[in-house]
Amino acid sequence: MNILYIGSGFVGACSAAISAASGHNVLVYDIDENKVKMLGSGDRDTVEACLFEDGLGDLLVRNKERIEFTLDYNKVETFLDTCDGIFMCLPTPEIGETGESNLTYYFDAAEKLSQALVKRNKGIQEKYIVIINKSTVPIDMVNKTQEIMDAAGVKNYGVVSNPEFLVEGKAIEGSLRPDRVVVGAWKEKDFEIMRRMYQRFYDSPTVTYIEVNPKEAAAGKLLANFTLFNKLAICFDVVGRTCETFDDLNYESLRKVLATDPRIGTWGLYDSLYAGGSCFIKDSRSLSHQLQTAGQGATLVSETHLANKRQLEMFIGRAEKEAGFDWTNKKVALIGTAFKRDTNDIRNSPSIDIGHFLKEKQVEEVHIYDPAAMDNFKLVFEENDQFIYHSHEFEAIKDCDVIIIATDWPQFRGLADAIIPELKKEKPLIMDGRRMLQHRYNDLREAGFEVIAVGSPFIKGKK
Ligand SMILES: NC(=O)c1ccc[n+]([C@@H]2O[C@H](COP(=O)([O-])OP(=O)(O)OC[C@H]3O[C@@H](n4cnc5c(N)ncnc54)[C@H](O)[C@@H]3O)[C@@H](O)[C@H]2O)c1
Repeated sequence: MNILYIGSGFVGACSAAISAASGHNVLVYDIDENKVKMLGSGDRDTVEACLFEDGLGDLLVRNKERIEFTLDYNKVETFLDTCDGIFMCLPTPEIGETGESNLTYYFDAAEKLSQALVKRNKGIQEKYIVIINKSTVPIDMVNKTQEIMDAAGVKNYGVVSNPEFLVEGKAIEGSLRPDRVVVGAWKEKDFEIMRRMYQRFYDSPTVTYIEVNPKEAAAGKLLANFTLFNKLAICFDVVGRTCETFDDLNYESLRKVLATDPRIGTWGLYDSLYAGGSCFIKDSRSLSHQLQTAGQGATLVSETHLANKRQLEMFIGRAEKEAGFDWTNKKVALIGTAFKRDTNDIRNSPSIDIGHFLKEKQVEEVHIYDPAAMDNFKLVFEENDQFIYHSHEFEAIKDCDVIIIATDWPQFRGLADAIIPELKKEKPLIMDGRRMLQHRYNDLREAGFEVIAVGSPFIKGKK
């Protein structure tokens, strides 16, 4: 089939690559020149320097005959003559802190598309086409998409909602072997086209293929993200807090007690300083906004968001409160800038809030390391005398008064091997926002280090 993608971010690029690898002919349109160049380079390293997703580079290189990235809308217009489906993969960020989705990216792209769709097949519009919302959108978005198309005089089309459930860092692996594919449509004709598009998943015995209406599909995505976000909040605001409050409660022991109940499950039972990323926060707040606009309280949804905010404030606040640490003129090591491991995405990364906090506190230097996300972080905190970037975590921690571990890259588990022997004189305060050093907390205590870790009471170093 001939498939157009509008927007080549994490969702558009990964999903387009899977489509090409499924044998479809794919055109990807984006307005970001740099992204189009890098993703369309045909070179694995260039692709991954743009979008760090394991397997994306290989997939794009292997399928380069079937996928093209373009900035040129004339190509899009020509492609529409024979196109079967258009995936809308535009950003839908929150407007300020209102919970409302900013749909201007989507509307701009949809309006431009509607003007092109009316011209297809020399204006006859004989080819039936589906417009597929892959962006995470408000529940009634299908109506809005239809209004835009109808206003322009588009004919012979359907609107489908096909939310994306990919997990950043595992987007390719997860999209090649998804747990479920959710397709929301009003018309059997649209379901039929989607089944052909997703033949490999429709026929797969391991994928649950779910057909619902477009509003249920959009609501399902928002509710799934809220449920996951809420589970993370329970982990740190309830389980972790309990372990921080009472002596002799080890977070990992309690995790085992909880996770062995299949009704609770294992996912997300890791304590953390914050649940960041581009989706959980904004989607939960969008759900809350939609419920409140419809006259509901949405207390639990709002409280989950507040619990997440509170967690980061409490974690950072513990330095002054529990260790009597004064940030002024201090040297800080900030280890990890990605919002989580295996990605270069820094959207809503706790390190951004920490960076602003450190600036406000007028620390002298912030020494930074992340294996993938430093280029993106430099766009927020320019490299200068105060923000200093390093090529290894061991270099970043030298001569610091405090070490903050903010991302769960597995390699950071080895940090104590450098901290204990090399920093035994300086004894910086260790702030472990991911419990990456939990297997060494006793050794650190024995060596005289003070440790503040999520999910543990303050660890005083042995004198
Ligand atoms: N990132 C995730 O893990 C994830 C997972 C599931 C769903 N989603 C949802 O998918 C949607 C896209 O998310 P993303 O992470 O891919 O966003 P992104 O910001 O990484 O990518 C969006 C792309 O759209 C492009 N764009 C903006 N306006 C455009 C226009 N008028 N025409 C063409 N291209 C345009 C941007 O240049 C950018 O490359 C959002 O609604 C998001 O909530 C994201």
